[in-house]
Amino acid sequence: MARTVFDDDYYRRFYSDKPVHTNRKIAQLAQAVDSFCQWWDLPVRSVLDVGAGPGYWRDWYKENRPRVTVHSTDVSEHACKKFGHELRDITTWRPERTYDLVICHGVLHYLTDAGAKIAIKHLAAACRGVLYVEAPTTHDLEHVVDKRATDMNVHARSAQWYRKNLGQYFVQVGAGMWVSRKVGLALYDLERAKD
Ligand SMILES: C[S@@+](CC[C@H](N)C(=O)[O-])C[C@H]1O[C@@H](n2cnc3c(N)ncnc32)[C@H](O)[C@@H]1O
Repeated sequence: MARTVFDDDYYRRFYSDKPVHTNRKIAQLAQAVDSFCQWWDLPVRSVLDVGAGPGYWRDWYKENRPRVTVHSTDVSEHACKKFGHELRDITTWRPERTYDLVICHGVLHYLTDAGAKIAIKHLAAACRGVLYVEAPTTHDLEHVVDKRATDMNVHARSAQWYRKNLGQYFVQVGAGMWVSRKVGLALYDLERAKD
């Protein structure tokens, strides 16, 4: 599998004509995740966005929660320059501090198994509240995604693989949200996936 190059062509291809996500859709998602954090009494004062790409989450927080500090990172020099992120590779960078909300949207499936395991360890170290993750699984790539609009040059792994690795550090609460086990949040049985 040829390694994806995250250059101008990549962002034009996946974020211009037929984008997988639009700024408007991410605004709805960010609003929902932020509201869930409030519902759980886990206020969001700091955000880390890993592999931020066009920076839609950062934009939502800047516009709607100007007091929240947002640290957006990406491995792509192009994305960092164009969209204003810090150049970081989550497979080699272990964040020095913790954040209330960590976002890793559409990134893990670009990493090898070994890389994704390290990245998950780094995300866990960085997160003192909630993690939002989106990564299409083998099933999603075969049956759910729009293959014309989605980058298929990725690492396909099972949902079980992600649950096992993320589950060491987080409790799955659904819709892409995972609560750090460090929080010890009391959740009803039906609010969370069974361990
Ligand atoms: C599909 S885009 C997602 C961008 C953004 N999170 C979103 O949802 O719109 C994947 C992004 O992950 C970044 N990425 C890939 N590997 C990475 C790594 N090892 N560390 C940090 N970012 C990475 C890419 O540069 C690219 O911007």
